[in-house]
Amino acid sequence: MTVATQWWRDAVIYQIYPRSFADGDGDGIGDLAGIRRRLGHLADLGVDAIWMSPWYPSPMADAGYDVADFRDIDPVFGTLAAARALISEAHAAGIRLIVDIVPNHVSSDHPWFAAAMAAPNAPERDYFWFRPGEAAPNSWRSEFGGPAWTRTADGDWYLHLFTPEQPDLNWEHPDVRAEFESILRFWFEAGVDGIRIDSAALLLKDPALPEVPEHGPHPYHDLDGVHEIYRSWRRLADGYPDRALIGEVWLPDAERFARYLRPDELHAAFNFDFLGCAWDPALLRACIDRTLHVHAAVGAPATWVLSNHDVTRHVTRYGRSDTTFSFATKREGTPVDLELGTRRARAAALLSLSLPGAAYVYQGEELGLWEHESIPAGLRQDPMWARSGHGRDGCRVPLPWSGDEPPFGFSPTEAADPWLPQPPEWKDLTVAAQTGDPSSMLELYRTAIRLRRAEPGLRSPEMAWLDTAPGALAYTRGPGFACVVNLSGAPIPLPDHESRLLASSPLDGELLPPDTAVWLRLRT
Ligand code: GLC
Repeated sequence: MTVATQWWRDAVIYQIYPRSFADGDGDGIGDLAGIRRRLGHLADLGVDAIWMSPWYPSPMADAGYDVADFRDIDPVFGTLAAARALISEAHAAGIRLIVDIVPNHVSSDHPWFAAAMAAPNAPERDYFWFRPGEAAPNSWRSEFGGPAWTRTADGDWYLHLFTPEQPDLNWEHPDVRAEFESILRFWFEAGVDGIRIDSAALLLKDPALPEVPEHGPHPYHDLDGVHEIYRSWRRLADGYPDRALIGEVWLPDAERFARYLRPDELHAAFNFDFLGCAWDPALLRACIDRTLHVHAAVGAPATWVLSNHDVTRHVTRYGRSDTTFSFATKREGTPVDLELGTRRARAAALLSLSLPGAAYVYQGEELGLWEHESIPAGLRQDPMWARSGHGRDGCRVPLPWSGDEPPFGFSPTEAADPWLPQPPEWKDLTVAAQTGDPSSMLELYRTAIRLRRAEPGLRSPEMAWLDTAPGALAYTRGPGFACVVNLSGAPIPLPDHESRLLASSPLDGELLPPDTAVWLRLRT
């Protein structure tokens, strides 16, 4: 008998970016064989689930977010049989697996788009946004920069909110809806535990295709009708035991965001409000309160996210004078103090792993990797870089596993160079170098994740703020646990406690130094 666990409510979910996790066959690109060989790393880390960025056949115009076939695996990564084997090996290790579904668009190599392009009157054009005309229907911009419309040889225009190789689907069409429901069933039946939904708020477009107004309803972001799609996905997911739908929803308005998490819609969504928040006590506290408030109102678990494959790694962000994140101002190349950023990232790990809800760990964050900002222009692969001058390659560099020089055990010996170059300085950040070093980021994550399971307070849904020094955050979880994070410039005293469980940096006697977090067991 399967017991409903609602595991997504407090899981630690580890994001694998398959190109960069581990290379099993020596072509310099990560793959399923590499992931299967390194599953022990995830078991040692103690994560509950893996979210796998896209692994489907793709021309890789956007690193796999341009999907040509949602029911197979790209040969660069392996085979469907290898994916099935990985799912069962992960399950055997007690780790669930979430796949990434990209419903807003397909690859221009997808059979539907190929058929649509074959003739101007092809019925498949209705699956997309084709429009005739001398000029583009409007001046919408691609999220990666440049126009969102491309003209075909026969004179029609088609819409792509990302690259021209990612034509947007027309979600008004019933065949599009039916196809994605069938894809969800395919993966649920293959045994996956959840679906991460890419660009979840973009699916519907105002069919009148108006210009984006300065104020007033947006013509393609967060249209009300999108919720009906997720209601039907939820009905479908509820037909399988214990499956979770997790939305990538970038919305500045927390109330609008929470609408995706109503009881008959998605189970969870990424907290980009927290990810983009400055390393600032008042702003973080307000963000945490807002998060807990809007999630409680719909009965959904909060999520705590510091990094992913799209954003500047947080060691780098927290080492800059402006510690916020937004795509518009990536601040690539502005001065960064990596020592400070690392110290803060360690404290942020104890913060995000002790707040109520689920925590996401982006591969390499457990190693304290920083953004590789000096990749030569000629080696950069991200289409966002080519279209806007802001790139995401720096957070996608292959992981360092062992050894003193690149490829740091990423590939077997005698292999091709990794698809993006690794900084030589990462020799101190390999899994092998950090294992067993109690002061390493890796051991901090391992201990924190183990304690998160073992400490009763950390399993409590309750959280309450404690009075503390100005510039610090302190809260309890249940009666027996407290976390204190010092974001001020001076050491602060600790609240009364029974014992210290874990600190992100050494304490100064009984004082908590700046940019340090501590977990305490309280007397009950
Ligand atoms: C999401 C993905 C990003 C991708 C985009 C288009 O934001 O996280 O990597 O480029 O959607 O699919």
